[in-house]
Amino acid sequence: MKVRFKLNGKFVMLDLPGVERLIDLLRERLDLVGTKEGCGKGECGACTVLLDGKPVCSCLMLASQIAGHEIVTIEGVAADNRYAHILNAFEETGAVQCGYCSPGMIVSAAALLARNRHPSDNEIKRALAGNLCRCTGYSKIIEAVSRAAERVAQERK
Ligand code: FES
Ligand code: FES
Repeated sequence: MKVRFKLNGKFVMLDLPGVERLIDLLRERLDLVGTKEGCGKGECGACTVLLDGKPVCSCLMLASQIAGHEIVTIEGVAADNRYAHILNAFEETGAVQCGYCSPGMIVSAAALLARNRHPSDNEIKRALAGNLCRCTGYSKIIEAVSRAAERVAQERK
């Protein structure tokens, strides 16, 4: 089935088999390997991408479900200047250790800051609740998102 969708800012037309998962399309056919697979069951958030601006688990979606929609992966977030503060803050605060959860965390953080420029720590925790990290204890990640939000707010003063 030929499907048209937007991927990281560009329109794409692809033949998609009915049973292909979105994560497999991204990683194996489109070489967008920044999106990680952890559990494969919707529990860890490592595979998070944005679907029309909202975080979704790409391991739970069929690629054919994205017809007519917009997908943004960690590669798209990293190439978008609006989100540079998030990537920098993750590095500066030590929020990246093994790094396996980081793409999903950063994608979820980008969705949060796109809709809320002044998130409280509780709002950050809620926004990242679907993203698991086994290394950091989460405090550095929350600090990184909070720092990124402060910088975005300062820039817009
Ligand atoms: S790999 Fe998709 S939620 Fe864990
Ligand atoms: S940094 Fe290792 S899982 Fe989060």
